[in-house]
Amino acid sequence: MESNKNFNSPLKATLTGISSLFKKGERIEALSENDRLEGKKVIITGSSSGLGLASAKQIAKLGAEVIMAVRSGIPEKGLEVEKASGSDKVRMNYVDLSEFESIKKFVTEIKEQYGKIDVIICNAGMVASKARKTNSGLEEMFMVNYLSTYYLIRLMLEQKLFNEEGLTLPRIVIVNSESHRDPKAFNWDAFGKFEPYTMAKTVQLYGYYKLLLASFARELSRRLNQERVGLSVFALCPGPVNSNIAREAPSIFKPLLSLVFGIFFSSPLKASEPVVYFASSKEVEGKDFDYLFLMQRKELAELADDEVNAKKLWKISEELIKKQGVQI
Ligand SMILES: NC(=O)c1ccc[n+]([C@@H]2O[C@H](COP(=O)([O-])OP(=O)(O)OC[C@H]3O[C@@H](n4cnc5c(N)ncnc54)[C@H](OP(=O)(O)O)[C@@H]3O)[C@@H](O)[C@H]2O)c1
Repeated sequence: MESNKNFNSPLKATLTGISSLFKKGERIEALSENDRLEGKKVIITGSSSGLGLASAKQIAKLGAEVIMAVRSGIPEKGLEVEKASGSDKVRMNYVDLSEFESIKKFVTEIKEQYGKIDVIICNAGMVASKARKTNSGLEEMFMVNYLSTYYLIRLMLEQKLFNEEGLTLPRIVIVNSESHRDPKAFNWDAFGKFEPYTMAKTVQLYGYYKLLLASFARELSRRLNQERVGLSVFALCPGPVNSNIAREAPSIFKPLLSLVFGIFFSSPLKASEPVVYFASSKEVEGKDFDYLFLMQRKELAELADDEVNAKKLWKISEELIKKQGVQI
């Protein structure tokens, strides 16, 4: 796979992440006192750890009913969010984003238990040490970092789960990464095929799946907002976060990584700023699409913004899901 080589090894990815924190850009204003979320239902995937957990705490503080979509940490992470936020509106629902059946069950539960949703933050993600097969034979990192979000959002749209009757537009917030800029092209031949890989290729694939996710986010916004804006789609890169993302790194490197992460990377609380901004800010109300790197507005990479590739991606993602015998 051809890449721009900024994210083609764990070391380069770490150094690129650190240097990005020192680049100067125009920072947008954080939230105002009026950016509250009372009466809103907000789903956050991957909120058992790192960025998702910190975002859940902040969003609960703003008054939302927070639905933590997690595969671990039930109930202790929910209790942690309740304690940190003082909220009594913290819910937890199990979902394993590597399995279609689990995602489908989750969507059914959401419909039955909560009805319409105002905001979903698709945050869950992973860096795998090697290729692993899911029950459906797909590669786990491809499924968790890209296809699960496509499937989840398509199901929620199909089930009409977004609250389009509210005073504000519903929002889909996609946690992406600047590493989506690294791939030089889409690799259609490899799409959905299980190919073994090891740590040496992980970071490159991670960036590639973030490109797929960014392209999907952009296309989703184009499709949903053709004549008038009906549902906002926002994407962001939180910058390097001191989270558990490197949990599968070889144990020999872990002490060094935790030192580097602790010194140079942002705390999950600080990194949650753009997530919370997109979930709650009035400044972006009515927008069809927006992208933030940290708290700086940016354009997506040209490849992610390209409509022809995005349409192809939409179609082959749908075909791949149907090939698994799964209905959207
Ligand atoms: N850390 C960074 O430097 C950085 C930089 C740019 C973008 N990001 C993005 O930020 C997002 C959050 O990552 P993080 O840094 O906060 O890492 P993290 O601490 O490892 O959190 C990842 C979350 O995703 C969940 N998850 C992973 N696989 C899942 C599955 N199969 N089903 C359901 N949930 C699953 C994890 O659940 P468990 O706790 O159950 O494993 C966890 O809650 C990711 O999308 C990541 O790509 C991170």
